[in-house]
Amino acid sequence: MASILETNSVTKKFGGFTAVDNVSLSVNPGEVRFIIGPNGAGKSTFFKLVIGFHTPNSGSIKYKDQNIEKLKLHERINLGMGVKFQAPSVFSELTVLENLSLANNRNNSLNVNDLLNDFDLISEKNNLAGDLSHGKKQWLDIALSTISKPDLVFLDEPTAGLSVDETKITGEIVKNLNKQGITFIVVGHDMDFVKQTATKVSVLHLGKMFIEGSIEKVLSDKGVNDIYLGLS
Ligand SMILES: Nc1ncnc2c1ncn2[C@@H]1O[C@H](COP(=O)(O)OP(=O)(O)O)[C@@H](O)[C@H]1O
Ligand SMILES: [Mg+2]
Repeated sequence: MASILETNSVTKKFGGFTAVDNVSLSVNPGEVRFIIGPNGAGKSTFFKLVIGFHTPNSGSIKYKDQNIEKLKLHERINLGMGVKFQAPSVFSELTVLENLSLANNRNNSLNVNDLLNDFDLISEKNNLAGDLSHGKKQWLDIALSTISKPDLVFLDEPTAGLSVDETKITGEIVKNLNKQGITFIVVGHDMDFVKQTATKVSVLHLGKMFIEGSIEKVLSDKGVNDIYLGLS
């Protein structure tokens, strides 16, 4: 197994409109891969294809050499994938501890106190999740997405609406989990977060893969700058 996730010429059309156009992507174990691109580039549609919310019109998606493009989200999660959606999906009426314990009971895997420590949630453990700051809700949600001990976690815009400091902490959380062996695919916007966290970047533009490579290579590319400035 060279790659943990591989898409091969994946295409998704809505009517006559092609939102994701022949995208081939290969992510190796250990990466923190960012998928970036301007609004409407096809990032969320691509995210939904790899997690199983959309079925591709053509192309294949492999997780650890197994074709998954026809599997449902829960079947993909059972194979070792974790997902965090853009809006936090925590139970607002339960405490932080209850949210974690509930998810953990289903998987009986982890020490909840370690999780509270890792995600900076110790002092809020008995607070209702609905009363947390937006940042802490996002961290709780990331904690929930990792509780089944996935090998590969997808994060959709995990720093949307966070302050500069909260964004930095989110980057540290991701890097720490990555050191523990989790591969990440992150849809992102925030360039400081990308610089802090990414090991490799893929840029989508008009549904197509535009350029891939190191953060330095991608950010110094004139085409990428033109895209972001709306010049192409
Ligand atoms: N369910 C849908 N039906 C029709 N068009 C869609 C649908 N989802 C996305 N699109 C279109 O596909 C394009 C890519 O959207 P999206 O993947 O959300 O882009 P991004 O996340 O990069 O901003 C946009 O033009 C959007 O309007
Ligand atoms: Mg989007």
